[in-house]
Amino acid sequence: MAGRIPRHFIDELIARTDIVDFIDSRVKLKKKGGGYRARCPFHNGNNDSSFSVNDKQQFYHCFNCGASGNVLTFAMEYEGLEFVDAVDTLSSQLGLEVPREESTHTGGQPTPYVDRKDMYILMGDIAKYYQQQLSQHKNSEKVINYVKGRGLSGQTVKHFQIGYAPEGWDNVYKRFSNSAEIEKQLLEAGMIKNRETGGSYDFFNDRLMFPILDRRGRVVGFGGRVFDNQEPKYLNSPETPLFHKGKELYGLYQVKQAHKDIKRILVVEGYMDVVALAQYGIDYAVASLGTATTPDHIHTLFRNTSEIVCCFDGDKAGRAAAWRALENALPYIQDGRTLRFMFLADGEDPDSFVQKEGKDNFESLISQSLPLSDFLFQQLLAQVDMTSSDSKSKLAQLAIPLIGRLNESIFRQMMEERLTKLLGIELEGLQKLLPKEENQQKKTVKNKTTPMRLAISILLQHPNIAYGLPEFPEFKEIQLPGLNLLNSLLDICRVSPNITTGQLLEHWRETPQSKQLNQLAVWQNNIKEDKYEDQFLDTLEKFLNLHLNNKIEYLKQKARSSEALTTEETQQLAILLSEQKQN
Ligand code: UTP
Ligand code: MN
Repeated sequence: MAGRIPRHFIDELIARTDIVDFIDSRVKLKKKGGGYRARCPFHNGNNDSSFSVNDKQQFYHCFNCGASGNVLTFAMEYEGLEFVDAVDTLSSQLGLEVPREESTHTGGQPTPYVDRKDMYILMGDIAKYYQQQLSQHKNSEKVINYVKGRGLSGQTVKHFQIGYAPEGWDNVYKRFSNSAEIEKQLLEAGMIKNRETGGSYDFFNDRLMFPILDRRGRVVGFGGRVFDNQEPKYLNSPETPLFHKGKELYGLYQVKQAHKDIKRILVVEGYMDVVALAQYGIDYAVASLGTATTPDHIHTLFRNTSEIVCCFDGDKAGRAAAWRALENALPYIQDGRTLRFMFLADGEDPDSFVQKEGKDNFESLISQSLPLSDFLFQQLLAQVDMTSSDSKSKLAQLAIPLIGRLNESIFRQMMEERLTKLLGIELEGLQKLLPKEENQQKKTVKNKTTPMRLAISILLQHPNIAYGLPEFPEFKEIQLPGLNLLNSLLDICRVSPNITTGQLLEHWRETPQSKQLNQLAVWQNNIKEDKYEDQFLDTLEKFLNLHLNNKIEYLKQKARSSEALTTEETQQLAILLSEQKQN
């Protein structure tokens, strides 16, 4: 198992990668004031400069959506990478090899992201094993007849890495679990389950297996279909550290492989729909995995294409699913992005349709799909009886929150105009009723000013002020909320020349304090540039005085009580009192 990545290497990586260059080559930055600005890549606002990158701090921050972090955070968020992969990306850019510490088995918690890489390999090996099993069962009538019966070609099976999980409850367990560590990984990856009576059994057995690939083509989970009509028809991998149903889309990796520039993505309901469509040349379909189309899905899809067509069954459930997709998509709509809906006749799905009618007929259905605006008003009007007297206010009630979720855009204007026509009112009248975009998204950080918050925020924003500062042993004795954190920050800054905010915060990645520290790092504490150092030292002194006063108070109280002070304590009190006088 690979060991942990040494801390000094991560420090070095952040120190040597300039965040401005790194971000600028992905999101064009403009120089503004003392820093760099851009439109935020992490939310859909119209503000061209809400996203700021601070050269000196090596830190970025969006004033609107609150996204913030150092260059590694940016690589992870922007490229959708795991921590270890972001480290790989930055390292290879610098031509560095990622070192690993010798792994120690002293019972300490292994770092999850170190294990994670191994888990991907394990999942990939299991997928290969299922594929081998499929070719080894070429003579099994059940398996082969099923695959043939569903019209799948050998090429398609290979393209989607479709496999077979053989009958039996311990095939994967027996084959892969040759150490306690791997057994733990198999469990975490959702490939085996513990029996209540002890021992483990395979999660999948006797099913046709569809590996689910992440955006980098790594196997993160499986969907397995039964051969007869048992329930459940499909068994999906549970949520695991690698696999989040609401995030992954089945087939997206293959779509990205097939097209450099993806003109359109079709969202369908099932594994078999994606696979059959691809076999018939419609190689731009993806499926959500037995869940609704989530905001994360829409976000991912619009990162890859500007046109999404959602294809659902024509029944009530299909329309409800389409409506949910619409609601989730509204915040992501911009000019130049389109979302459309198509519904198949009852009893059809894309798989059955394309096998019967072929590619051209399916694509002509796609070209007739409903634009978002039509589908939205069609659904709203279906809920309102336009002949009744309160129909207009009911329509307004339904439509206003939906339109309010759209970003400022020509599309939104068009929707507003369409609604005003239906309501028979003036546009200005409607606009007064609509929520405004940016205010809605703004996550204001309300930090009450306390001396501790002030000190921590100054130190995070200007970590160099603590370089060379002496240690304050008193600080280890004071009981003050946040002081432990301040001490840890000081411990690092005091000995690290030229440390940046980005480097400093890296030490707290994935810790419970990280969120608060990130907020304080961007907190506008309104201290002038030439004052923060004084302010910081003043605050530290305040803490020291507080300590002094507390100690004096304690000794005085003790002297007053029945317990007498020891000679030592009497001396100490005298010293403390004279110190207090000096201050
Ligand atoms: P459907 O029930 O529409 O099945 O489920 P299908 O895709 O047409 O399947 P085939 O053609 O009979 O093989 C649509 C999708 O919902 C999820 C799966 O992702 C499936 O592809 N699903 C369905 C489950 O996760 N579990 C189930 O038991 C059923
Ligand atoms: Mn089907």
